[in-house]
Amino acid sequence: MPKLIVVTREGEEREIIGEAGLSVMEVIRDNGIDEILALCGGCCSCATCHVHVDPEFAAKLPPMGEDENDLLDSTSDRDEFSRLSCQIEFGDALDGLKVRIAEED
Ligand code: FES
Repeated sequence: MPKLIVVTREGEEREIIGEAGLSVMEVIRDNGIDEILALCGGCCSCATCHVHVDPEFAAKLPPMGEDENDLLDSTSDRDEFSRLSCQIEFGDALDGLKVRIAEED
């Protein structure tokens, strides 16, 4: 199964295994990393699943939708590699993906 590397807010790097077909948010949450609140459950309406994606993988991700872009605009820690992790489907094509959990708003 594909591997995901998560950097927590404290800078701890954790390597976890994710089930293909889940979202990156679900993979992080299911592995017990509770910094991702995911308050809306993954329906793209809360922005509490905000992560910064490793630039190496940015081009491999699905394009950002308008809703996701608008929500990210409402966050204080947005940068060019910001994504909502519930909008990224995990799978073998993203094996080794590294994401850093964004600061809390
Ligand atoms: S979980 Fe709410 S926007 Fe991703």
